[in-house]
Amino acid sequence: MQEAEKLISGEKLTHGEYVRLVESYRDAGVRETLEKEAVHIRSMHYGRHVFIRGLIEFTNYCRNGCFYCGINASCKNTKRYRLTKEEILKCCSNGYELGFRTFVLQGGEDLYFTDDIIVDIISSIKNDFPDCAITLSIGERDYASYEKLKKAGADRYLLRHETADEKHYKLLHPSGMSLSNRKRCLYDLKELGYQVGAGFMVGSPKQTSDNIASDLEFLSELNPHMIGIGPFIPHHDTRFANEKQGCVELTLHLLTILRIMFPKVLLPATTALGTAQHDGRERGILAGANVVMPNLSPEKHRQDYSLYNNKICTGDETAECIENLRVKFKNIGYEIVCDRGDYPTD
Ligand code: 5AD
Repeated sequence: MQEAEKLISGEKLTHGEYVRLVESYRDAGVRETLEKEAVHIRSMHYGRHVFIRGLIEFTNYCRNGCFYCGINASCKNTKRYRLTKEEILKCCSNGYELGFRTFVLQGGEDLYFTDDIIVDIISSIKNDFPDCAITLSIGERDYASYEKLKKAGADRYLLRHETADEKHYKLLHPSGMSLSNRKRCLYDLKELGYQVGAGFMVGSPKQTSDNIASDLEFLSELNPHMIGIGPFIPHHDTRFANEKQGCVELTLHLLTILRIMFPKVLLPATTALGTAQHDGRERGILAGANVVMPNLSPEKHRQDYSLYNNKICTGDETAECIENLRVKFKNIGYEIVCDRGDYPTD
């Protein structure tokens, strides 16, 4: 297949070629060829190592109304919570003991967390755990705010673009939100020296192969350090409650393509992938991913950070069960390492 060969040889694909490449997930021969290449490329940069990130979901208050998301402001049945700085630090110390050297602070866009409050949290984590990286995933803010958080010690920032197609973006978000602001944030973050992660859901309502091709093109332009993708999973309390779940096979195919397009990218096998299929994360690693993000949030709040139905939050995906995950990955030939796992600079 011409597109696959072009991808492997590093040539730039046209939009139409990206569309055909995306659609080739049904062709077992193409997938096998691409997967071999992806695994080879990953092993050149990362060997057999898998990095872990401890995910701390510190607030589920959100001012936004993203139609797909179970913690969006209009979900009236969501029980809202915020962690205190002390609770967050406790999550970090539990995580540190378990071998985590990156903490991801993720939350809804919660106006309670002003720059000063986040700066104080970042400084305290850096003070207590100077050998750890801090990743923020707290949505859209202005340049000055990103700058303050960076100066306080934040190393990385995750902000999925969700979809790079304007029309599709409007189908997923309320009128106050815009793709252009999302992109502005991503470029600001890059300029400020963060390691930046973008990404999108696979199989979100009304998504087409053409949209995914645009996602791949946008990612090429942005050239992020991290890319998060996972299948869309409906949430019962949203307008997309009865929509179809995203396809696991297509997600795996896209992980493979992303690894080939971005050889050194930090690419998680996401919780959504593990929720959609019981061995989704192992399959994600085999497809080209090299990161997993177990949950470090306090147990009593985990059920309330429900972005989508049945989000896994109790079994082997939790940080406490890292040993089980270690064994699972060892069985497929991969090794979880205790390392910050920064983007390689060479
Ligand atoms: N299904 C899958 N992923 C979702 N996210 C939000 N809602 C859903 C859903 N229903 C993803 C978004 C967001 C990330 C934190 O979770 O892509 O950026």
